[in-house]
Amino acid sequence: MNKEKNVLITGGSQGIGKQTAIEFLKNKYNVIITSRFEQKEKELIEFLKLYGSNVYFYKLDVTDENQVKNVISSITTKFGKLDILINNAGISLSNGLLTESNTSDFEKMIQTNILGSYYCMKHALVYMEKEKSGSIVNISSIAGLRGMPYSVLYGSTKSAIIGLTKGAAIEYAEKNIKINAVAPGIVKTEELQKEIATGEVIESTAATIHPTCTLGTTSDIARGIYFLANENNEFLTGHILNIDGGYTAQ
Ligand SMILES: NC(=O)c1ccc[n+]([C@@H]2O[C@H](COP(=O)([O-])OP(=O)(O)OC[C@H]3O[C@@H](n4cnc5c(N)ncnc54)[C@H](OP(=O)(O)O)[C@@H]3O)[C@@H](O)[C@H]2O)c1
Repeated sequence: MNKEKNVLITGGSQGIGKQTAIEFLKNKYNVIITSRFEQKEKELIEFLKLYGSNVYFYKLDVTDENQVKNVISSITTKFGKLDILINNAGISLSNGLLTESNTSDFEKMIQTNILGSYYCMKHALVYMEKEKSGSIVNISSIAGLRGMPYSVLYGSTKSAIIGLTKGAAIEYAEKNIKINAVAPGIVKTEELQKEIATGEVIESTAATIHPTCTLGTTSDIARGIYFLANENNEFLTGHILNIDGGYTAQ
């Protein structure tokens, strides 16, 4: 369908990012994934090539603005342009009472979730503006939309993503650049499956926060991201798509 379209997915090494890479590969995009660890490249590319041959890897830590700038610059040089940015890289630390949390955990989440997304938006938008076209999908969370005890710090970084998405969507609307976000509920990623296996998380208890009483899958979120990002939805910008089993309908 879109052989010449290029999508950059930050943090495509596992979880939602990896599944989003599969979704775009199935739809014939050139997919560029990133990880902080070069050693993940071989296995990851081998796996993703099962879904499409046009998949590429860059080493990237989104907390380093220079790295972000250089990676986006090399992508636009190599591929000609950057059509879509999926700002997926994110972390969740210090899940406890605010008074018991570590300031350094909050700083790391601010650096990765807020500043990382901002750096990627800022440097991608420079190229998208020149092309007079582009699409960005950020990843918020239900914790960014509702007060969520024991995830207050993480939630606040995901509220910032809502602000970045809505404000920037208006700034760039006339420039033919769409900026949207998804707000997932709890998703059964590889990481969560490990916590379920060790008994740290009880699956049925976690699932009951959603009216569906089920957990989300990485495919549920990847399909939503693809829907917001692809060029068929030109009039869709500044939207927050809750994919949460009805959580925010309550
Ligand atoms: N899982 C959920 O229930 C859920 C719910 C709502 C929102 N979200 C959001 O969805 C996104 C993906 O979550 P996930 O659960 O799929 O996460 P995950 O399985 O923990 O994977 C996180 C990804 O982010 C990358 N990453 C972390 N720090 C990075 C950094 N400083 N620079 C570059 N990449 C970095 C990791 O890559 P490397 O480690 O390979 O570098 C990895 O690919 C996050 O923004 C998360 O906050 C998740």
